[in-house]
Amino acid sequence: MDTGSRGIGAVLMLVLGAASLGLAALAKNPASEIARPAQTHVEKPPDAPPPSDPWLDASPFRLAMRTMWADPGIVVMHGRDPEFAETESIECSAEDIGRKASRFAQLYGAVAKGALDLRVAAANKRWDDAELSADRLSKACCDCHVEYWPPRLRGFSTQVIDLWRRKGPVDETPWTGEFAQRLSKAPTTALCKQMRGWNDMMAVLGAALEKQDAEAMQTAATGLHTALDEIAQSWGRVRDRAQSLQQFAMRANFAPMKQTYERMITECNNCHSGFAEVPAGFNPPPWR
Ligand code: HEC
Ligand code: HEC
Repeated sequence: MDTGSRGIGAVLMLVLGAASLGLAALAKNPASEIARPAQTHVEKPPDAPPPSDPWLDASPFRLAMRTMWADPGIVVMHGRDPEFAETESIECSAEDIGRKASRFAQLYGAVAKGALDLRVAAANKRWDDAELSADRLSKACCDCHVEYWPPRLRGFSTQVIDLWRRKGPVDETPWTGEFAQRLSKAPTTALCKQMRGWNDMMAVLGAALEKQDAEAMQTAATGLHTALDEIAQSWGRVRDRAQSLQQFAMRANFAPMKQTYERMITECNNCHSGFAEVPAGFNPPPWR
């Protein structure tokens, strides 16, 4: 069936869309032409580099991790002496970890679910369902990327911001093409390497869907499901333990607080041991 690849085609468009559109737009509209300063501003020399904007390169993913690292510090600091402990501080931090972990469990879980649905559809050779599941799967990748990619990876630059502020989101937006450039080079972090692996699996799924190759689809979908489900479950355990921690803090019940805390940070550490880049000292501190 010709339309078999549409689902995964959409996957790649969603993932690649901004980047490839960006390159096309850039070719038509050189950045220097678009980045004309607003009239109310003092005229800059045409080739002056636009001011940098830290928002563009900050990774929301790393920021969430750092915040989740600050939280355990607060918990340990306030939990060490029941007599003087500020249980409210423990509660707020535990709830924050729980909230963030819950979001990650949801985002990874949605990808896992998409892969599982795809496998079932392939096993039953229900190709319409398979296309629909492939669309959901690709959207699940995109859902996390819009939330957790540095804006520059999504195509935003100071030129884009400048143009949008002056003219709004015009069709000729000069996207950075950062994503396409990245894919042309080797991945730089363990996280990116993991993502590349998933991206390759998506390509295999796309080809299998096009050929209606049920067996290849089941194999690739199973692989993707297993990988994502494991991560979703790990985040689910962080969430559950953080929520229990909060409950114990609310009741000023210190003995089980320590135990729950230790079980929670074991999850952080287990996942990190597979990611060499987590900088030294950024694993959550042990209870004292
Ligand atoms: C829970 C969040 C999340 C999910 C789900 C997710 N990604 Fe990612 N993805 C990220 C983050 C974070 C990065 C790294 C951004 C950075 O480098 O700062 C990334 C980067 C990537 C990259 C670029 C890798 C590189 O070398 O720069 C690709 C390709 C990618 N993801 C594909 C996928 C695919 C395909 C899926 C779905 C099967 C997926 N991702 C699901 C968060 C996610
Ligand atoms: C299922 C996997 C997983 C779990 C669970 C997890 N992390 Fe991470 N963490 C990562 C990955 C992947 C990175 C590397 C991010 C990157 O390369 O951009 C990371 C990086 C970090 C960093 C370093 C951020 C930086 O600035 O480079 C901190 C701090 C951190 N995590 C804290 C935590 C804490 C605290 C917990 C538990 C409450 C936790 N993480 C649970 C996967 C996980």
